[in-house]
Amino acid sequence: AVDVAVPPAPMGWASWNSFGTDITETIIKDQANAIKEFNTRLPPNTPKYNQVNIDAGFWMIGQGRRSDGSQNIDATKWTGGSLKSSVNYIHSLGLKAGAYMDVGFNGCAGHAGSEGYYFPDIQRFADNGFDYIKVDFCGGRGQGLGPKEAYSKIALAVQSAVIQAQRDIYLSICNWGFYGPPGFSDSGKGPWTWAPGINGIASNMWRTSDDITFAVGSNARASAEDVLVNFRANYHPEAQHTGYYNDPDMMVIGMDGVDLNPADPVQSRAHMSLWAVSGAPLMMGNNMKTLLQQPQFSAILTNPAVIKIDQDSRGLPPIRVDTPAVGQEIYARRLAGKGQRAVVLLNTNLQPVKMSFTAAQLGLLPTGALSVKDVWANTPAERASGRYEATVPAFGTMMFLVSGTDTTSVPSAVRAGTSPA
Ligand code: GLA
Repeated sequence: AVDVAVPPAPMGWASWNSFGTDITETIIKDQANAIKEFNTRLPPNTPKYNQVNIDAGFWMIGQGRRSDGSQNIDATKWTGGSLKSSVNYIHSLGLKAGAYMDVGFNGCAGHAGSEGYYFPDIQRFADNGFDYIKVDFCGGRGQGLGPKEAYSKIALAVQSAVIQAQRDIYLSICNWGFYGPPGFSDSGKGPWTWAPGINGIASNMWRTSDDITFAVGSNARASAEDVLVNFRANYHPEAQHTGYYNDPDMMVIGMDGVDLNPADPVQSRAHMSLWAVSGAPLMMGNNMKTLLQQPQFSAILTNPAVIKIDQDSRGLPPIRVDTPAVGQEIYARRLAGKGQRAVVLLNTNLQPVKMSFTAAQLGLLPTGALSVKDVWANTPAERASGRYEATVPAFGTMMFLVSGTDTTSVPSAVRAGTSPA
C-alpha cells in the first residue's frame, strides 16, 4: 500500500501585510520567535501556527540577477546574501519556512521575477530548505501570460524539486482568481477550475480574490466588508477537496489599521468563523510581537475548537445550505467524524436577527441524539419545534458543532463538491 500524506490547509504567518518590502533577517527571526511564543497559548493537541512565510521584498530592488543566474539578495539584510540562515533559524524553532516568487519577468514589488528561471529558482529554494513556495502573478499579468500555462510549468518544477529533495514542498498559487486572457486554454476560467489537482496542476492552494488589504504596514486598511468580499469570492465548493484549498487570503484580525472593533469581538469572531468553516489557510498578517500584547485578538486566533474545525482532516468545503432571508446565509461543512458538521449562520444585516436550521438541512437524521454546540460560547443551542435557533449579531456569525447520525443517503447539498440544489 502507498502511504499518502495529505497536507491540511496551512496555518501560520506571512510578512507582507505588516512589513511589506521592509523585511530583513532580523525581522523574520524576531517574528518567528513571537510565533513560537504565540503557539504556547494553544492547548495541547491543537494544530499550531507553524508556517513562517518570507513574502515579497528580500531582493535588491531593480538589481536583477547575479552572474550565476540567482536573484540578487541584499547581503546587508540577509547573511551571505542568502535566505538560508533565516530558513535554518525557522527550522530550529520547529517551524516551517515559506518563500515567494513571481511567474513574470518582474514581480509586484519591483524585483526580478522568475520567467525563464522557474526550475533553477525553485531548485534553489528547495536547496535552501524551504517547505513552501508562494507564486505571485504581477509580472505574468503585465506580460499577458496565461495563468494555467505558467503555473503548469511551475507545478512541474516544484514536483521535480520535491523528488530530488525527498520531502514535500507546498505550492501556493497567487493570481487573485484572475481568469486567463483570450487565446489561452484557461481564458474565462479562474484557478479553481484548473489548480486543484485537475489537469495536472497539483497546487495545494490558490487565491480566489484580490488582497484583503491593499496597503501594508501602518497604512493597512481593511474592514468587515473586505472580509465578507473575500469570503464570498472564495465560494468554489466544487474545487476544494482534501489537500487542495481555496484561499481567501491572509487574516487581518487584530492588525494595525484594520477596522474590526477590539472592544466588541463580533466581527473578528465572524472573520475567524468564516475562514474556519471554509477550511481555509489560517495565515496571520499581523506584527506578531504586537499581537502577543493583544489578548482580545489572540484569544480569537487561538480558539482550539475553531482551529480544529478549520483543520479537519477531510478538507471538504462548506456548502451554502440555505439563504432564509435577505442578508441571512447558512453554511454547513461535513467533517471527518461520522455525523459531524460545522455550521455557520451569517447575518449581514445591520440589526441582529433570529436564524434557525434543522438536522435534515445538514443531512442528519431528525430523530435520535443530536448535539448542537455553540463553538465560541461552548453551550448547547436552543431548540424549538425541531429547529435549532440562535440570535445572530448584526454583521456577525454564530458557529455550531453538530454531532448526529448521517442519513443513509446524504442530500446532494452536503455532499462534497456539489452546489446546493
Ligand atoms: C500581491 C499578493 C500579496 C503580496 C504582494 C507582494 O499583491 O497578492 O499577497 O504577496 O503581491 O508584492
